[in-house]
Amino acid sequence: MINFHSKKIIVLTGMMGSGKSTIGKNLALKLRREFIDSDIEVSKASALSTSEIFDKFGEEYFRSGEKKIIKKYISERNENLVLSTGGGAFLNKELRDLINNKSISIWLNASYNTLYKRLNKNTKNRPLFHGHELKIKLQELIEKRTKYYKLAHFEIDVNGLHITEIIDNIIKQLENNYNEIC
Ligand code: S3P
Repeated sequence: MINFHSKKIIVLTGMMGSGKSTIGKNLALKLRREFIDSDIEVSKASALSTSEIFDKFGEEYFRSGEKKIIKKYISERNENLVLSTGGGAFLNKELRDLINNKSISIWLNASYNTLYKRLNKNTKNRPLFHGHELKIKLQELIEKRTKYYKLAHFEIDVNGLHITEIIDNIIKQLENNYNEIC
C-alpha cells in the first residue's frame, strides 16, 4: 500500500538516458499525480524539437526557456505533480536551489555503461552529443555533472533494475523519509 501523501512536487533529475521521463510517468501514475516533462513543455512553447531549438537559437535560448518552465511549475503549481527536468537543469544554481527548497528532488543515478547502451541507440534529439564522439562526451558530462546531481535530496540507483523495482524503491525512500522532506 502506498503511504506517501505530500503536497510537494517531486522533481526528477539525472543524466540524459537515466530514465527520467519513463520513470516519471510511471511514478506519477502510481502516486496519482500529473506528469510534466520540462523538455516537452519547452518544445511545445516554440513548436520545435529540442534539437531544432539548439540548432536555430542555441543552447542559451533553450536554457532560458527551460528555466522559465521549471520556475513556473515549481512556484505556481506546488502540488500533485511529478516533474521530469532536462539533464542540464539541475546544474543551474538558481534552479537547483528553488527545486531543493520547494520540492522533493530525486537523482536517477545511472552508470556510464547503462547510459552508453541507451544513448548509443539514438542521439538524434540529444543535441549535446551532435558532432561529438558519444563515449568521450558522455564521460565528460558525467564527470562534470555528478557533483551537482549529488545535491538532490535522494539518489536512486537505476542500474539493471526493472521499472517496477525502481518505482518501488523511490516510494520506499519517500515514505521512509517523510518527516524530513514534507
Ligand atoms: C540536456 C538534456 C535533455 C535536454 C537537452 C539538454 C542536458 O533532456 O534538456 O537536450 O543538458 O543534459 P533529457 O535529460 O530529458 O534527455
